[in-house]
Amino acid sequence: MVTQKPPMGWNTWNTFGKDISEDLILSTAKAIVNSGLADVGYTYVVIDDYWSLIERDENGKLVADATKFPHGMRYLADELHKMGLKFGIYSCAGILTCGGYPSSMDREWIDAQTFAEWDVDYLKYDFCNKPHNRRGDDLYRAMGLALANCGKDILFSACSWGAEQTHEWIRSTGADMWRSTGDIFDNWSSIKSLIKTQFPILPYGGKGCFNDMDMLIVGMNGKGNVGLAGCTEAEYRTHFAAWCMLQSPLIIGADITNADDFTLNLLKNETLLAINQDEQCAQTYSPNTTAENPGDMPILVRQLANGDIAIGIFNLTDSAAYITCSQSDVSLHFHSGKMLELTNCWTNEKTYSINGLISANLEAHDCVVYRAKIVNQK
Ligand code: GLA
Repeated sequence: MVTQKPPMGWNTWNTFGKDISEDLILSTAKAIVNSGLADVGYTYVVIDDYWSLIERDENGKLVADATKFPHGMRYLADELHKMGLKFGIYSCAGILTCGGYPSSMDREWIDAQTFAEWDVDYLKYDFCNKPHNRRGDDLYRAMGLALANCGKDILFSACSWGAEQTHEWIRSTGADMWRSTGDIFDNWSSIKSLIKTQFPILPYGGKGCFNDMDMLIVGMNGKGNVGLAGCTEAEYRTHFAAWCMLQSPLIIGADITNADDFTLNLLKNETLLAINQDEQCAQTYSPNTTAENPGDMPILVRQLANGDIAIGIFNLTDSAAYITCSQSDVSLHFHSGKMLELTNCWTNEKTYSINGLISANLEAHDCVVYRAKIVNQK
């Protein structure tokens, strides 16, 4: 599989943790379809850790916990496929999963075969409980090979948290996306620190293997497994906009069966989704920061397939700020005779880069993304 765009979907972990079941998956799947989230691209429904029994069966195969999943995993895959969705499951490259369940180290081939029999479309592959004498690159390559030969196209979502310099070897494993961060939590400091981790690794993402900044917390509002203080609307906006600008996979973590209008509207924001899913997959860059010093007012820029430019202006500080940059910062020099028509991602309002200036008046922790079209100077 060559993954052309950041994968989109939903995962059990952020809200439900250990508390997962067939009912939860099917009711969430219905909500994903009925809320219109499936129509805009959120199609992978992924079961995270805690789905199996502690023991494998007599043939060494993983077994779903029948108290949680009474009809088994193949049934769940079939039901999701009937709804037009895709089915994701979880395992781990170490001896046990993070939750202490059987893991796939040295069982890669039998487990990949089992996942193919269950008609799985996506495998999240974690990094807990790895023996000191084994290397991450080798373990991920072992599973990559087994998946590539299992007879089913299964998206390989590596989750080694950027450990062991993951960016240097992840593309050798066949992974389609790679977790470039530690775990997200539902508060502002988590969002801010995860955004800042991306600056040194911007050149490593893109088509084929996307930098995964971890699952979304939009709409969690402090509830659930990784729910802490929760975030304000501005903070959730900044979180979602940064994940879109940085081409992260968009895997929802909130309880979609109870999502409010703010959450659904943000997750379906057309301008931001088009930027996240842009087919060019050009590298995102920042004209006002360096990898070593990302600062607290980063401007993120990406060229888009139709010649437009996405420009995100972020205020990560704790006070309101007026932030500016010039069109030369996005390499549209004044002598070109061109200027930018800027469409605001929140209001759809259009403004222009008058005198070459691009600016935003932002509350603390807020941001704006402009989709900028190149037009003749007026
Ligand atoms: C790790 C991963 C999380 C989640 C848990 C499950 O912490 O990074 O995303 O999968 O394990 O135990």
